[in-house]
Amino acid sequence: MESVVDAAETEQLDLRLAAAEVLAQAAGEKALAFFVRRESLTTELKSSSQDLVSEADRTVEAWLRQEIGQQFPEDGIVGEEDDSVAGKSGYDWVIDPIDGTMPFLVGQPNWVVSIGLARNQQPVAGAIYAPILHELYSARQGGGAHLNGRPLVMNRDWTLSSTTIGFGATQKAEASAAGRFVEGLYREGGVLFRVGSGALMLAYVAANRLAGYYDPELNCWDCWAGIVLIREAGGEVVFDGDLARPGSIWAGNARVCKDLVRLSGKPAQE
Ligand code: IPD
Ligand code: CA
Ligand code: CA
Repeated sequence: MESVVDAAETEQLDLRLAAAEVLAQAAGEKALAFFVRRESLTTELKSSSQDLVSEADRTVEAWLRQEIGQQFPEDGIVGEEDDSVAGKSGYDWVIDPIDGTMPFLVGQPNWVVSIGLARNQQPVAGAIYAPILHELYSARQGGGAHLNGRPLVMNRDWTLSSTTIGFGATQKAEASAAGRFVEGLYREGGVLFRVGSGALMLAYVAANRLAGYYDPELNCWDCWAGIVLIREAGGEVVFDGDLARPGSIWAGNARVCKDLVRLSGKPAQE
């Protein structure tokens, strides 16, 4: 009986992951239409001079919410640019219409659409689409992680110094703590990497393009899909936020993840 229940749940999840992949790509194309005329977009400052929102972010998120609401009316939605919608099915969609708004607005290619799925508040699937790179990352709990259909398997032997480490600290970060982390990393042979999209940096960890990633504060929509990607690619992620509050995130293979927690000097909150 249990396997029948599991099979039914897997089917429900597969249905949503397939929809998330299609929606992430379609939303990416919509964002791209704004990207090519980015100089003319209306923008507003949010928490700081490098935390912006544009009409592209708002329009793409509104479109995603409408599509998800039509296709899965019983599901909840948590997104960056609008209030959360409570659901009844146990599933929540965790969406960031453009992760990497700053790179987007200045014309860099490193921005993505990130769509995660939660089941009973836990990360269970996700799709990340990078329109300019033509890359679709997707993962489902128990189904593996993929990049454009190719399976992703993380290197289990890498250390902090094997290749670069993503660091996501924004202007919100505590300057001395950020400095201590960078100094500690360089003392141990590590080198820093940053592209302004937490979702893309997490996808890069899953794809063995980064040895690890640390961000002192991320929201669920920045990292939900990336968490599933890394776990399904055989890596480890500690995220001490949840669907309602931001948290720190550490990611890599088991050894790198542990070392990043140590270097951050900031034990994960319960
Ligand atoms: C930001 C990016 C950035 C991270 C910030 C996020 P946004 O998201 O993911 O890498 O360091 O904390 O807010 O604003 O570009 O969607
Ligand atoms: Ca974001
Ligand atoms: Ca965003």
